[in-house]
Amino acid sequence: MSDSTLPPEPEKDRNDEPALSDAEVQRMHSQILREKEEPREGFPPVPIFLLFVFATVVFTCGIYMGKNSAGFRWDVYDPNFDPAQLNEAPAQVVYDPVAAGERIFSQNCVACHQSDGQGLPGAFPPLVGTAWVQDSRIVPTAVLLNGLNGPIEVAGSTYNGNMPAFGGLLSDRDIAAVLTYIRQAWGNTAGPITEAQVAEARQAHGSRAAPWTAEEVFSLSELSTPVE
Ligand code: HEC
Repeated sequence: MSDSTLPPEPEKDRNDEPALSDAEVQRMHSQILREKEEPREGFPPVPIFLLFVFATVVFTCGIYMGKNSAGFRWDVYDPNFDPAQLNEAPAQVVYDPVAAGERIFSQNCVACHQSDGQGLPGAFPPLVGTAWVQDSRIVPTAVLLNGLNGPIEVAGSTYNGNMPAFGGLLSDRDIAAVLTYIRQAWGNTAGPITEAQVAEARQAHGSRAAPWTAEEVFSLSELSTPVE
């Protein structure tokens, strides 16, 4: 609004009085032209120090890759590698006879003696708290290796069944494991049976084809080293 109150500027003809004369314009331009670098053909050469820098970088990277590429083997790189795992305890590789024995029991024995070791009344004797399982190492080892037949007494009841032989099915180690398992499972408190002890028993009577009778197998334990 103030614009409208100001008086209009007087118009000038710029051609009337030029700011610079022709001569001055020419002189300025000739100065500028002189100071400009002459254009050259092609690319300017790389400065020599840059070449050294690049060479050093390439050399260093080459050494690094040569040292850490693991021979560029495809199977070395593990995208899921977690360095934190290096500090964790290594996976347990120790053989645990009780764990192995539990597995062997569930594969070979549960059908008759049941997973709680109680057996089935009248058909399959229990393994819990029985003298057969706990009182000697020799008796249960012999029963497993060669089988058991005829009337037996277990925990006050009489059974007259057929316990199959496992000597031909299971290794010494597996028999030791399953015996160790049943001797400490379900509240049983007997000590472990070792692979060597099973091997010894197998050597003594492993080739016997007939299953034991109760009398035979207990006499075996009396004849051998004293019951623990
Ligand atoms: C087919 C059924 C059957 C299977 C499988 C079986 N048993 Fe038996 N087991 C019996 C019978 C039946 C008797 C009793 C035998 C008798 O009456 O003379 C017996 C007796 C026993 C006895 C001695 C008696 C007692 O109760 O303490 C032990 C120890 C034993 N079995 C352990 C095992 C183990 C360990 C396995 C697995 C490796 C196994 N049995 C698999 C049927 C079986």
